[in-house]
Amino acid sequence: MTARIIDGKEVAAKLRATLAARIATLPFAPGLRVVRVGDDPASGVYVRNKDKAAKTAGFDSATLQLPESTSEAELLALVEQLNNDPAVDGILVQLPLPKQINAQRVLETIDPAKDVDGFHAVNAGRLATGQKGLVPCTPKGVMHLLAEAGTSLAGARAVVLGRSNIVGKPMAALLLAADATVTVVHSRTRDLAAECRRAEVLIAAVGKPEMVKGDWIAEGATVIDVGINRLPDGRLVGDVAFNEAIGHAGAITPVPGGVGPMTIACLLENTLEAALGRRGVAG
Ligand code: GUN
Repeated sequence: MTARIIDGKEVAAKLRATLAARIATLPFAPGLRVVRVGDDPASGVYVRNKDKAAKTAGFDSATLQLPESTSEAELLALVEQLNNDPAVDGILVQLPLPKQINAQRVLETIDPAKDVDGFHAVNAGRLATGQKGLVPCTPKGVMHLLAEAGTSLAGARAVVLGRSNIVGKPMAALLLAADATVTVVHSRTRDLAAECRRAEVLIAAVGKPEMVKGDWIAEGATVIDVGINRLPDGRLVGDVAFNEAIGHAGAITPVPGGVGPMTIACLLENTLEAALGRRGVAG
């Protein structure tokens, strides 16, 4: 079997176009503020891409750049100011933050109604208990890709490789809400390969280059590769050995061009949802 490639760039472009069309009908532009502290070069690329995509889709988007030496108190004061600004619908504080700042404290200070990353404990709790809230962008993007791939989830055996707060845990909650039978596996799991081989839907989110080998994948499985790893030779690869996996999977996302573009598109979707939610309009 040769796997069908799930084109994240195409799905993301379609979602951004749908959002732009919806925004064009609104009497206001939803406001997004991205806060960047210091000048981590990888963050710079992300932040510019977010800003460009947001502006193109019709959002009122701005990046607030603070110096590396910013204190936690200064950053908390800025977050409070954005919480109280009626023109701001979504707040994203780019991670990682400099070491003098407690990132958890900053994330917990963001108004949950403006928490477009979905990282606040209130939003994580809503997701865990099946209530409506803002959902982390990457796992939300994965759910869009599974829908586009036509993967049926009800009753399916889904395996999530990785247990981070940003991807693994919310991913498992979303799959469970879609009636999948979900297993979360991680670095301490015995016989990872055997657990992955049972998956009809495999989500890899561990950040280990090409860790998932071809023979870890059941024939015909849908494989979503969340990993983006840069090798010493400069190549970008996922957590899945793509060239081996395409001989086993039924459908698979590439890296780059799979999950990555969906994360930004879902950030915009969350910002629109937050804007409508704050004004009491259903999405
Ligand atoms: N750094 C890398 N990805 C992300 C993200 O999705 N959200 C935030 N806040 N920081 C990041």
